[in-house]
Amino acid sequence: MNTNRIGIFDSGIGGLTVASAIRRVLPEESFVYFGDTAHLPYGDKSRALIQGYALRITEFLLHEMHCKAIVIACNTASAAAYEALRDRYRGTVPVINVIDPMVERVIADENIHHVGIIATRTTVASGVYQEKFTRRKPDLKFSALATPLLASMIEEGFYNSNVSHAVLEQYLTDKRLSGIDALVLACTHYPLIKKEITGFLGPHVQVLDSAEVVAAKLRGILEKEKLKTPEKKHEDLFYVSDLTESFAQSTAIFFPDKVTLRKSSLWEQA
Ligand code: DGL
Repeated sequence: MNTNRIGIFDSGIGGLTVASAIRRVLPEESFVYFGDTAHLPYGDKSRALIQGYALRITEFLLHEMHCKAIVIACNTASAAAYEALRDRYRGTVPVINVIDPMVERVIADENIHHVGIIATRTTVASGVYQEKFTRRKPDLKFSALATPLLASMIEEGFYNSNVSHAVLEQYLTDKRLSGIDALVLACTHYPLIKKEITGFLGPHVQVLDSAEVVAAKLRGILEKEKLKTPEKKHEDLFYVSDLTESFAQSTAIFFPDKVTLRKSSLWEQA
């Protein structure tokens, strides 16, 4: 049993979709959320730069916040930095990424023969989904499409609107996605437009987001490692590395409860 908080981080506030699922699945647990808004978006940055950010945030979550587990609530950071973090903290704390639970979910589904993913440029360029799908299920057909406009469009509040319809139409009619049985929303911002995407693709294409599968994976790991807390001991905390009015407003889009964002001085100490 361990009553410490769970550390969750993302490039910004998109990872709040994962934090929200964790709160639903593990209501007794407390967490610290860190949104690296000073360096947003991660989606067009180099692997080395993202690894540096991820490492520093994880050190803050472990050494200053004493977190008992780390959830990388960002596909781009999972693609770029998961292995480095896992290897560094092996035997100390569990590190959970958002990619592996989704890969497991897809390969276990016998109805999926052709899977598509939409994601940031860095996630698509990393090839990590393709590598994992091909290794685990070689006969699964795989297609990937970088959709760089979507994360900023969502952060600006453009969804269920003419703007989002036009952007989605442009992306989702791309011929790389034709014939898919399932589309993975491989960016933690995208659950906000899941309904729109589902409406666009129709009932024959499953639209999958990682929030629930990641929360379930975390629960399994906490149980296995005997890290679960019997009751909620702390308030949830929300840090961002840059605090603007617009981040404060868009937080409400991603998280159902009223959240007080605290400005972290992590990069000011650097
Ligand atoms: N939330 C990030 C992800 O899951 C995307 C946003 C960004 O580009 O920073 O990939």
